[in-house]
Amino acid sequence: MTTNTHLQARSGVAAPAPTAVSVRDTEAGNVHVIRRLFHDYVRDQWTTFGAALVCMIVTSAASGTFPFIVNYTVKHLFLEKQAGMLAIVPLLVIALMTIRAISWYGQQTLIDSVGERVVTAAQRDLFGGLIQRDLASLNAVHSSQFVSTMLYDATLMRDAITRGVAAFGLETAQLVAFSAAMIYEDWQLTLIALVVLPPVAWAMERIGSSMRRASTRSMEQTGDLATSLSEALDGRRIVKAYGLESHFAARASKRLSTRLQSMLKVVRRRAAAVPTTDLFAGLVFAVTLYYAGFQSLHAKLELNDFMAFLTAMLLALQPVRNLSQLWPVVSSGVAAANRVFAVIDAKPQIVDASNARELTVRPAPQGGSVKFQNVHFSYRDHAPSIADVSLEIAPGKKIALVGPSGAGKSTIFNLLLRFYEIESGTISIDGQDIRAVTLHSLRRNIALVTQEAMLFDETVAENIGLGSLGASRTEIETAARNAAADEFIRHLPQGYDTRVGEGGLKLSGGQRQRIAIARAMLRNAPILLLDEATSALDTESERQVQEALTRLMKDRTTIVIAHRLTTVLDASRIYVLDHGHVVESGSHGELIACGGLYARLYQHDFRDRPEQP
Ligand SMILES: Nc1ncnc2c1ncn2[C@@H]1O[C@H](COP(=O)(O)OP(=O)(O)OP(=O)(O)O)[C@@H](O)[C@H]1O
Ligand SMILES: [Mg+2]
Repeated sequence: MTTNTHLQARSGVAAPAPTAVSVRDTEAGNVHVIRRLFHDYVRDQWTTFGAALVCMIVTSAASGTFPFIVNYTVKHLFLEKQAGMLAIVPLLVIALMTIRAISWYGQQTLIDSVGERVVTAAQRDLFGGLIQRDLASLNAVHSSQFVSTMLYDATLMRDAITRGVAAFGLETAQLVAFSAAMIYEDWQLTLIALVVLPPVAWAMERIGSSMRRASTRSMEQTGDLATSLSEALDGRRIVKAYGLESHFAARASKRLSTRLQSMLKVVRRRAAAVPTTDLFAGLVFAVTLYYAGFQSLHAKLELNDFMAFLTAMLLALQPVRNLSQLWPVVSSGVAAANRVFAVIDAKPQIVDASNARELTVRPAPQGGSVKFQNVHFSYRDHAPSIADVSLEIAPGKKIALVGPSGAGKSTIFNLLLRFYEIESGTISIDGQDIRAVTLHSLRRNIALVTQEAMLFDETVAENIGLGSLGASRTEIETAARNAAADEFIRHLPQGYDTRVGEGGLKLSGGQRQRIAIARAMLRNAPILLLDEATSALDTESERQVQEALTRLMKDRTTIVIAHRLTTVLDASRIYVLDHGHVVESGSHGELIACGGLYARLYQHDFRDRPEQP
């Protein structure tokens, strides 16, 4: 429970139930998936891929000549004793080995470079696709599940292409060639031998699909495991303080054991392919021998013909074996590709309308009014979170939202930023419906300061610069000065170029907040959404943060989720929310006078705060 609370607090919105990155095995036609893999990721590397295939053919042709060389040597050197052959044969062997070595090297590097490029391209698409999604579907993705898809599935996909599909063509070609030789020798015997192919194919498909399921399961479990590891590390302060080390070690161990079972299943399925093929091959041998023996007893089959047939059949066995080993690799690759494509294909639900215009907001004091009219909204599968809410903020003014926890205050922000689509009613900025304008222009006009200042592990300057990409150093420093952050930043070891550590861990709470305020300052948007930090700062940092905020709010339309009396007192209007409804609104004095929810909240909450005037 403690870890959850911690995570919720960090994300700013209630943490969703952990669900996987759509890791269902969609059983989309394998051929279709493989075709798409090639179309999306291999097509632009056709020359490299083709060159690799040529190298493969050279390699196997070179290997294929060795039996003939042996044959040749035995015949001319040992049987016919031709002295001239003595120099030629070793030279021939060396030449062939050299060709084989070069083509082998070429095949390996070319195909693997195709594979690595496929992985990188798929990973680029995966993250690019994910980060473009809307908040709701992003919340539904468990980050660790996504990381395992990103890191492992992309490599399974690569193996399917490099090991699987590339070798597939070659082995099939060999199989066709040897089968042709068999038919040439004795078509009836060939027919008997080939009868076994459908059951082999059936068995391989069974093994393959069972393997796909096991690999999907083990993927999910890898995600679960990664989640439990990263949670425990994220929440390390709580883990240590509450002495939960063994609890989390046991949880990790349990997930590891579950995952082990699936992994072992994959191992067993993968290992089953070759012996299954061999069993069927043994069956073919037995039947062929029986039939051939029967024929020879009746003097219908000559020994030399049978020997030739047997040689071709033995040679054909290797490609069959290789193909049966490829299938599991291709199978897991297809399962992985299904998961990867599911992430890439997920389309954002909230998109620009086809005729969306740019939102234009005139600078305060003329522009920047915000209006909610009878807005209804509920999160998926939940009771209404916002019911019939109407709010109005005049340009450049400030309103405060107050209300008990879960009342819907943060939801109002989510709706104005169009993170979620409202069910009915309208939200407009300067008379323009937010659904009729582009998402980009909407969000460019809004600066959000969240409860927990979110810093990234970059330098201080870069963290502030995120407010307006491409801002100059001077602009960044001006923003920091306005946010009362310049002084402490200059005292950091590398000043503005100090890295802040994961989540800004190397800075104090108040410092983090001022950097977040500087970022919003730099954004210079006409509308400001401010979710006040609930965590109490000491009086001095509190004063500095307040100062920074006051400067930030000047000349901007501000909606503040208020936890402090100072903020409420100078708001032009206070809206009191409860269970998604606006239950009261007015100035501080009016609300106190009417003795409702606000008055009670005030008594319990604000009155005890140190800011009380
Ligand atoms: N992502 C979400 N998915 C489903 N329900 C949510 C989600 N976010 C919030 N809720 C639900 O919507 C309601 C309003 O939540 P909201 O976050 O707006 O409350 P709040 O007023 O900001 O509370 P607090 O003061 O604790 O931050 C709550 O009942 C909450 O459980
Ligand atoms: Mg909230």
